[in-house]
Amino acid sequence: MKKIILFADTGIDDAIALIYALKNPEIELIGVVSGYGNIEREKTYRNVEYLLELAGRTDIPVIAGATRPLSGDEPVFFPEIHGMEGLGPIEPPIPEERYANRTNFSKLFNLIKNNANEVTIVNVGRCTSLAIAHYLSPEVMEDVKETYLMGGAFIEPGNATPVAEANFFGDPIAANYICQHVVDLTIVPLNVTRDALLTPRVVNLIDMLADSPLEEIIKPILDFYYEVYQQLEPGIEGTPMHDLAALMAALDIDGLFQYKKRQVEVEHKGNLAYGKSIADFRPGSSNCFGPKCSRIALEINQDLFVTNVFKVLTNHR
Ligand code: RIB
Ligand code: CA
Repeated sequence: MKKIILFADTGIDDAIALIYALKNPEIELIGVVSGYGNIEREKTYRNVEYLLELAGRTDIPVIAGATRPLSGDEPVFFPEIHGMEGLGPIEPPIPEERYANRTNFSKLFNLIKNNANEVTIVNVGRCTSLAIAHYLSPEVMEDVKETYLMGGAFIEPGNATPVAEANFFGDPIAANYICQHVVDLTIVPLNVTRDALLTPRVVNLIDMLADSPLEEIIKPILDFYYEVYQQLEPGIEGTPMHDLAALMAALDIDGLFQYKKRQVEVEHKGNLAYGKSIADFRPGSSNCFGPKCSRIALEINQDLFVTNVFKVLTNHR
């Protein structure tokens, strides 16, 4: 069983990753760090509180992450993709006192210290909160076993700009720091998460078997996301589960991903390529070795992905 701390900007695909983490018996979710990204920090925090409440798991601590990127710029939010509240059509009925003005970041360090060398971090939003954790306490962060990131796009178009993926584009300074300094890092980029599709047929089957409030919100939020994606990429067969794919990478499911090891940099000074992830994939380049090398997922087995997701999301534990 893996002890996981999820860093998220919850968000529809973040929500599905969180639901999967709560339902998978191979995951012990020990905390969620909730920062700005798809929507404002307070809303992402509230959404996590809501999902944990639906799951009957309000014992899991929610930690307030960053509210803006390290550049200090105003963040750009994406209500047109995730809905005004971040969960498509749903307005989470959580009172403001449960999510406003949180200042509990030190809880994160206690969680890591109390589970030294056992914690897997999965970061599926902007990298700001994770970079801040490394800036604030490099000693404690050395006790993290491994880190997974959903972010970047290699040798393929981005989604936030023609060259940059949204999580890296949202805070390229933080993303570059993490890619350059965090050891045991695995990156699950847009190249593969684009193929981590759930079709409406699979979503309908999951819904037919839903028997709890947590399972029952999967279809409305994914139906909303599907409509959005039909506008963004007409004809796409389903909705890309970016964040869920990154979480699943942490489970080492045999054959789910193919990886290459490369040194990764994120453009954070320029203008046109701001947020672009760069690694050397020229013919003749080969796997690198050493602490600066990240493992990058380059292919996903779609059948294995769908089979596993269906099994976990319809498991009534
Ligand atoms: O580019 C996809 C990523 O950006 C996902 O994490 C999504 O939730 C958004 O944050
Ligand atoms: Ca996300």
